[in-house]
Amino acid sequence: MSAHLDALRQAVAVSPDNVPLLVLLADGCLDQFLLSEAKQYFQRALAKDSHHLGAQLGLARVAYQEGNLSEAVVRAEAITAAHPPCAEAWLLLSRLAFLEHKLNEAREHYAKARSLDPNLRDQGLEKDLSKPSTGAPPPPPENLKPLPATLIEGEEPDGPSAFESEHPADEPNLSSAAAFDLSVEFERPSIAFADVGGMNAVKEDIRMKIIYPLKNAELFRQYGKKTGGGVLLYGPPGCGKTLLSRATAGEIKGTFISIGIHQVLDMWLGNSEKNLHKIFELARQNTPAILFFDEVDALASDRANMKFSAGRNVINQFLAEMDGATGNNEGILILGATNAPWQVDPAFRRPGRFDRVLFVPPPDEEARVSIIELMAKGKPVQKLDARALAKRTKDFSGADLKAVFDVASEEKLAVAMRENRIVPITTDDLIRAAKSLQPSTRAWFENAKNYALYANQSGFYNDILAFLGIKK
Ligand SMILES: Nc1ncnc2c1ncn2[C@@H]1O[C@H](COP(=O)(O)OP(=O)(O)OP(=O)(O)O)[C@@H](O)[C@H]1O
Ligand SMILES: [Mg+2]
Repeated sequence: MSAHLDALRQAVAVSPDNVPLLVLLADGCLDQFLLSEAKQYFQRALAKDSHHLGAQLGLARVAYQEGNLSEAVVRAEAITAAHPPCAEAWLLLSRLAFLEHKLNEAREHYAKARSLDPNLRDQGLEKDLSKPSTGAPPPPPENLKPLPATLIEGEEPDGPSAFESEHPADEPNLSSAAAFDLSVEFERPSIAFADVGGMNAVKEDIRMKIIYPLKNAELFRQYGKKTGGGVLLYGPPGCGKTLLSRATAGEIKGTFISIGIHQVLDMWLGNSEKNLHKIFELARQNTPAILFFDEVDALASDRANMKFSAGRNVINQFLAEMDGATGNNEGILILGATNAPWQVDPAFRRPGRFDRVLFVPPPDEEARVSIIELMAKGKPVQKLDARALAKRTKDFSGADLKAVFDVASEEKLAVAMRENRIVPITTDDLIRAAKSLQPSTRAWFENAKNYALYANQSGFYNDILAFLGIKK
């Protein structure tokens, strides 16, 4: 088997741009649990062909195997949103939902995967799903062995881990959210702006547009100004849109309710409007609340396929809820995020809806320094030279920087296990890891540039042009 991998490695060395070959090698590595190597080849394949389904699926699986469950969910959901018939992505989502104790959702996803591909089966999962729900946490996947406590990475800031089943006493009660068949993330985030590196301009915008109006609601009322409405964050993947949204909720000590748009669209016909209403009601009962809608573009892009008729009703319901036509939205801040703002239906950008649109750029050098410093916290990093690493990670997103730490940590962890002692990570290790990775934001800008140049109605994408240093 490893001889087979070696042959593939040699073939890739000869044809480094051969995407199917890269994916084949990556899949082989994944089978052997060579996770960081698999990840690297999948990423290289995606850098050449950003739409490669096998590579996208591969990265979702790597994240799952690594125990980065929130990343795995995000990746798998992105796949099912763009390629609804991808049975394997539904299967992965089913496993992930099961780990998150969302039994109904897990069953639904499993049924969906089987209906798309009857040959796809996971008998272990099937057995788990057929058990009545006991409320006891399911065991983690077998490969997720606990790490020595000293080497465990800093807390993953993006979403709670699936294993944190205990909620602190002051945490909102999840049962009201679980009462309907829709998976919503519902929490009081403990992270605030200080936990998000850089992004000062966007943070300030959010303070001005969201936080101050909320804190001075009475004053705003006196002047006849309504608070609320929505802010749409857009930009390349992995640059902190989701993280910053959670931190905004933490900043106002409010509730964070997160929901993927395609989840709304995938709900059974007829129920989706009702459920959407319940989500808004949930927010109204838990103010101040940030209602976070991820992948807002899915609303528009889904119109192209068969979900059109169901989608239209949901969209109208969504707009009505946003407009406050069905309840009082005081104290609710609606944040949306998208990588593809050009696909968002203009109806969403009318006043009172997502009327403020903020570009979330990749971190500049200064921002990378602070992100790197944040990420090094709680890890055995020796004499960190954040500036040196920041200088060598141009165009890296926050998520890419996290990958740099992951790769370096993994290497050191292997040594640490062999030598049975803590082996510190050095700046050189991190720089080496950075060299092995590709920044993921460039591909996004190549695409975005076209919209900014040729579909820039009312200067909507001026921020992109400014970022690219293009004068109009
Ligand atoms: N400014 C930042 N400070 C600290 N960590 C960051 C920052 N930006 C990104 N990260 C890291 O990258 C991960 C991914 O970021 P996040 O999910 O917020 O990106 P995103 O913009 O929502 O991406 P996508 O468009 O793919 O949804 C975060 O969980 C965090 O670990
Ligand atoms: Mg996100």
